Amino acid sequence: MASVLAFPPLRLAPGSDAAPFAPALPLAELPAGAMRRVTFGDVDVLLAHTSSGIAAVDDRCPHMAAPLSIGELDGCVVACPLHNGRFDLSTGEPIQMPTTGGLLPDGDYVPTWSPPGREPKEDPPGKKADARRLTRVRRFRYYPVRISDDGVVEVAVPR
Ligand code: FES
Repeated sequence: MASVLAFPPLRLAPGSDAAPFAPALPLAELPAGAMRRVTFGDVDVLLAHTSSGIAAVDDRCPHMAAPLSIGELDGCVVACPLHNGRFDLSTGEPIQMPTTGGLLPDGDYVPTWSPPGREPKEDPPGKKADARRLTRVRRFRYYPVRISDDGVVEVAVPR
């Protein structure tokens, strides 16, 4: 039987505790290991059936907002299709920094990725490099999820 992922305390998306549950999709359309985008108004939600249960977060990479629903899911880890960032849905934390480098959630700087054994690449001067360097990877925020008695995945999204 499918279960719901127990997300880390204090990582509830703002306003979600007062939001009503709404149907997202039949559980049969979200088998183990699958990811789907479901849109509520102007909010795109990623539903991921991880090895620890079903999670619902924004379908926006915590780095630069690419849609994670077209990435890869391995256990609880989702890989972004844009800069190869990898994020653990069971903790909300990045486990592989995007290749562009930038700031970790705690503010520590990580340089642009370079092949192993090579010197770190110099960032060229300019606003694009500044934007990469100053972009902070966020932690996931979670929407409450439940599975109805008739097998529908429901999500509480503030609107
Ligand atoms: S947008 Fe996802 S890793 Fe950069």
